Amino acid sequence: MTSNPALLSGVRRGPDALPRLCGVSLGAFRQAHSATIAAVEATTYAILEDAVRRARAYLEALPERPVAPDRAAVAALRQRDEPLPAGPTDPAACLDLLDRAVSPATMASAGPRFFGFVIGGALPATLAANWLAGAWDQNAALHEGTPGVSWLERVSLRWLVDLFELPEGTGGGFVTGATVANFTALAAARNAVLNRVGWNVEAQGLFGAPPITVITGKEAHPTLLKSLGMLGLGRSRIVRVPADSQGRMRADALPVMSGPTIVCLQAGNVSTGAFDPFESIIPQARAAGAWVHVDGAFGLWAKAAPRLRHLVKSVESADSWATDAHKWLNVPYDSGLAFVRDPRTLQAAMAITAEYLPTTSERNPSDYTPELSRRARGVEVWMALRSMGRSGLAELIERNCQQARRFAEGLRNAGHEVLNDVVLNQVLVSFGTPERTRAVIERIQKEGTCWCGGTVWQGRTAMRISVSNWATTDDDVERSLSAMLRAAAE
Ligand SMILES: Cc1ncc(COP(=O)(O)O)c(C=O)c1O
Repeated sequence: MTSNPALLSGVRRGPDALPRLCGVSLGAFRQAHSATIAAVEATTYAILEDAVRRARAYLEALPERPVAPDRAAVAALRQRDEPLPAGPTDPAACLDLLDRAVSPATMASAGPRFFGFVIGGALPATLAANWLAGAWDQNAALHEGTPGVSWLERVSLRWLVDLFELPEGTGGGFVTGATVANFTALAAARNAVLNRVGWNVEAQGLFGAPPITVITGKEAHPTLLKSLGMLGLGRSRIVRVPADSQGRMRADALPVMSGPTIVCLQAGNVSTGAFDPFESIIPQARAAGAWVHVDGAFGLWAKAAPRLRHLVKSVESADSWATDAHKWLNVPYDSGLAFVRDPRTLQAAMAITAEYLPTTSERNPSDYTPELSRRARGVEVWMALRSMGRSGLAELIERNCQQARRFAEGLRNAGHEVLNDVVLNQVLVSFGTPERTRAVIERIQKEGTCWCGGTVWQGRTAMRISVSNWATTDDDVERSLSAMLRAAAE
């Protein structure tokens, strides 16, 4: 095989790049160099097959390997802190190194018995779509440049608006996660409420702007506060409404609202899974002229499950919503979604124009997201929705919630205290004193059957169990429950 870099790179650039350079026909060129072309093509793309083989072996081993990363493998990574290589290395050898060194150092969060955070897994179908999309390597910024993936996003968005029963015409953007989805939707909220009092944030910024009252619950997710901080609305000047024992905002403690106001509600508290009382707060807030935003990172998916839909009653009457696809839709990281009732407000906050960028009458993906260039996240979202359909998704969500209830029942039956009402997929359990609870969590993590983390919920040290993975079977729940009870009995 040739080692001529020009020939190699020419062949890699496409079958007709070199013939054009050499001024010969493609057929003649192929005939003259057929062995070289075959060899280069085989070695260039063989790495993809190797990656598939390794990924498959990794996934197939997940259900039986300890969930926590291998400590020795993590420690060994330190020894691999090598200087930047001076020259090239065979990519196949690099892939081998990646697999041998890093695969064992991963948390088995894609597997069926990781309950540490609301992480979800990647459905094989969505991973496959992700791989294909990786090969396409589309920059999903502009419709004109990437009509195929832009179409997938438009269709997925329509399906999601339908699934969540959001108002017709709701617009949205595909972003990295709920943090940025909150940021994106709240940028539209900030601009819109100031616009109503004659202030153009885009042009004038926030210097000298009329103040905005921002209201959140006491148990809002910290990333929501971060989003508000990034928008110049200040983390500490937010009005924090007291919450009840489940973390729900207390409707009776809502302040009187007037002037530019944004109310941020939550669908799914990260510890308890609880929902703010949308039905009583949203009409009140909107009647006072406030913009209502809902952080539904995982809780919004309750809308997609007939048995859980009552938890999000009236959520659709808000002005904007944020959620994650990388949680309960089980697509690969990263994937979040921002929805805004009036897409013009989102577009006004996010769109740019430049002489060199093509304009279109179609939906331009980057008109609705903070980024211009980005990966085509809609591909996996489309795949998840297309392959599961309504009933498949509802089954996944309802099964996970049933599994959470089973955890709570098993722990309670063994005499342990479950601290929350298990309404969704979250269970908070105390094993006694804070020290004892922390020790049980440590034993569970070390033993490896499953993985859960700790928290302090309203002053009580607790273990959190989050169930959101497509691969979790009832047998996984029983195995994990037994492991938890063994650790608690030690
Ligand atoms: C309610 C809520 N909001 C926001 C977030 C942040 O989501 P992400 O990590 O996808 O940015 C989370 C994460 O768990 C969450 O539970």
